[in-house]
Amino acid sequence: LVPVITVDGPSGAGKGTVCARIAAELGWHLLDSGALYRITGLAADRRGIKLDDESSVAQVAAGLDVRFQPTPDGVLTILEGDDVTTTIRTEEVGSLASQVAALPAVREALLQRQRDFRSSPGVVADGRDMGTVVFIDAPVKVFLTASAEERGRRRHKQLTEKGISASLPALIEDIQARDERDSNRAVAPLKPAQDALLIDSTSMTIDEVCDQIMTLVRT
Ligand code: CDP
Repeated sequence: LVPVITVDGPSGAGKGTVCARIAAELGWHLLDSGALYRITGLAADRRGIKLDDESSVAQVAAGLDVRFQPTPDGVLTILEGDDVTTTIRTEEVGSLASQVAALPAVREALLQRQRDFRSSPGVVADGRDMGTVVFIDAPVKVFLTASAEERGRRRHKQLTEKGISASLPALIEDIQARDERDSNRAVAPLKPAQDALLIDSTSMTIDEVCDQIMTLVRT
């Protein structure tokens, strides 16, 4: 069976960076499951579908025409021939994503597509339910968190670097609201798998987090 490392956790814990580094180090595939929810939210919105119309959004999810195109500068996300790489990273699309992610039929529609990423030599899967739903049999599971304050500070730094001004207290509040929604939804709520290693990255560097996961992979 093809090995999988699952990394679940709340927004801003550093999962994206950590998963990309580990996948590169091992030469494994990377599944950014959040991107699939973001793309679904965007595609549904572009078609004028109401995000509470569960069966229509699920149909969009099931029929997504999306490609992940590797380039020297990173992977491009192509939706219906249109480069949406930067668009899907906006706060607006993040909000669309978390709304469609709460719909059971949408999660069901994306399940097989996520499992299809499991191909040789291995996959590093980044998300909320990788270890609890999508890859229950993964040999290595991590749950990566950090305090809401620290996650807010990281997000603030990212935005500032892009020249976008934002209020830190508002960002922290936003993160807490998203945590609340992701943890309390009826389907696939955000929680650590029973067999996951918990890593609190509040006062850790990315390198330290990666080292800890690589140690786990090698044992
Ligand atoms: O970077 P950030 O954590 O803010 O976003 P993301 O990982 O791209 O996920 C966007 C949204 O999709 C999250 O707020 C979740 O509600 C949802 N999601 C999910 O429900 N299950 C996943 N496996 C991944 C993302």
